Amino acid sequence: MKKVSIALALSGMLSITTATAQSPATIVVQAGKTIAPVQPTMWGVFFEDINFGADGGLYAELVKNRSFEFSMPMMGWRETRRNTGNVLITNHQEMSSANPRYAKITINAPDSGYQLVNEGFRGMGLKANDTYDFSMWADMGRARNVQLEIELLNEKNQVIGSSPVAASGSGWKKYVAAVTAKETTAKGKLRLVFKGTGVVDADMISLFPRDTWKGRPGGLRKDLVQLLADMKPGFVRFPGGCIVEGRDLNNRYQWKKTVGPVESRELIINRWNTEFAHRSAPDYFQSFGLGFYEYFLLSEDLGAQPLPILNCGMACQYNTGEVVDLDELEPYIQDALDLIEFANGSVQTKWGKLRADMGHPAPFNLTMLGVGNEQWDVQYIERYKRFEKRLKEKYPEIKIISGSGPYYSGPQFEYAWKELKKLGPAFIDEHYYVSPDWFFNNAKRYDSYDRTGPKVFAGEYAAHGKEDKAPESRNTWLSALAEAAYMTGLERNADVVQMCAYAPLFAHVEAWQWRPDLIWFDNLKAVGTPNYYVQKLYANYKGTKVVPALLNGVPVTGQDSLYASAVIDEPTGKLYVKLVNNAAVERVINIQPTGWKNTKKVGVKTLSSTDLMQYNSVEEPTAVTPKESTGSVKKGMLQLTVPAKSFQVIEVGNK
Ligand code: AHR
Repeated sequence: MKKVSIALALSGMLSITTATAQSPATIVVQAGKTIAPVQPTMWGVFFEDINFGADGGLYAELVKNRSFEFSMPMMGWRETRRNTGNVLITNHQEMSSANPRYAKITINAPDSGYQLVNEGFRGMGLKANDTYDFSMWADMGRARNVQLEIELLNEKNQVIGSSPVAASGSGWKKYVAAVTAKETTAKGKLRLVFKGTGVVDADMISLFPRDTWKGRPGGLRKDLVQLLADMKPGFVRFPGGCIVEGRDLNNRYQWKKTVGPVESRELIINRWNTEFAHRSAPDYFQSFGLGFYEYFLLSEDLGAQPLPILNCGMACQYNTGEVVDLDELEPYIQDALDLIEFANGSVQTKWGKLRADMGHPAPFNLTMLGVGNEQWDVQYIERYKRFEKRLKEKYPEIKIISGSGPYYSGPQFEYAWKELKKLGPAFIDEHYYVSPDWFFNNAKRYDSYDRTGPKVFAGEYAAHGKEDKAPESRNTWLSALAEAAYMTGLERNADVVQMCAYAPLFAHVEAWQWRPDLIWFDNLKAVGTPNYYVQKLYANYKGTKVVPALLNGVPVTGQDSLYASAVIDEPTGKLYVKLVNNAAVERVINIQPTGWKNTKKVGVKTLSSTDLMQYNSVEEPTAVTPKESTGSVKKGMLQLTVPAKSFQVIEVGNK
């Protein structure tokens, strides 16, 4: 379509066009006709501890291997001035089975000082004038005249903050100190300097920024949670992903080992440590400082429904494929039942009491639970059935999420749907990591789905390209545009598709295993990708009911390179139209709301780039971000000049 002249409005985005080479396409939005309600859960987030998403990421702990429980107990630690002292890794498993090791530090440094340095997760991000809380469990009974000083170091090993830690007698105690950084560094370190002579038994050596999300001690990285809060997600799925399954059953995620005091949570290797030889991460473990209690709290903070996914007695079928015998499935099922009690049970119950003891007597209002992640074949269905029976008997109100495996089509997928439809899951989880073209071509995927069966949870998806520059470079504008186009199809089918999440969520630029990802970060900064802004726009403008958006009487699913969907937000009386122009040219589009009186004010958010390979990076975070403009409806018609390769949310308001 060729445009001859456009009168640009002040913003440059919205304009009244007076002449075009051919008449503009008109999208009729039938605001008086409801297709389906939009569930509050429609657009959510998928969290997995992949790409250093938890330890080294969202969980704000700066010390790596704080409890000496990594396979190599001194990984992350370096001793300097070894002639003045040493560390003996000591195991007191009988006393502390979850956290058996500690460091027995012998010091013989009356003058100089024996030093232990922790390198952090690819360094420590320290900010000038920010305060950092140090803590350490220690038995100083034989410390004699030992004095301990903690120091923050910059990348040149210069001291940028220090504080003494007072020693006080025998028995294991928690020692604390606060230290303020004098300068900002992304590659800081923590140094413990011991002077004098004696022995210190030390464990759980920790350093947290005081400025965490909601100021919670030992809490979450504020900038990362803020990006999630800005999205206004409807749910938080946790803890994954393949991490739920484990490479073998020993390595599976066990929620009970992630709650209670952090020093009693048993560290395990992160499955992504060894998953990809080309992205090996030998120092990737799960400390579970971010555990199930913290996930529930995070969901509550975000106003999102918690959506835990549990292991169903199967390890990852791409790895060992181990299963637990059906006759021995009971502990797994009991974990699921106990989790519901942990989340919702009264404080008189065993698990409800633990929740209260951890600081949250009120229930977390869990309404749904996933059984298994990317499982397939008969062994999944057999196990799923047992879970479903027991869950429904005891907690019929809990919606169960089942899975259709790793593929969006094919024999495993068909088999799972066929069998699960005979059972009673509320949702079937579908995953697709496919090309941008697939997304553009499949906006009609759900138009033909059975309206009477289980609902769809589009639980993991992302458009995957092959770009290979900076880590963030796979998150191109092309991939985001393709997802935006596809998501019009999810929205239009909100009677069937009731939960959706991009995956994975987080990635550290120096420690990733999988890409693309929604949010990238380094030790100091975080950046939303173009894909993030697409997700955010959908979630921020989710509305409460879907209405038809039609081009020549049919849904707009790619004809003439256009995609569209529309919702009404009943509480605010606003109409939101999502529009993708995948053409390489700017064009004029008419939006004609029918049955809609609230047309006084129009706001447009536009995401676009002339470079389809454009991405946002930690260095250049705003290359593709929404731009705002305004307009008005005249004689029942809104005329827009829509940039080439763009995604817009058009808000037709009542003020
Ligand atoms: O999102 C990354 C991985 O992709 C998830 O862990 C898994 O469920 C899927 O294969």
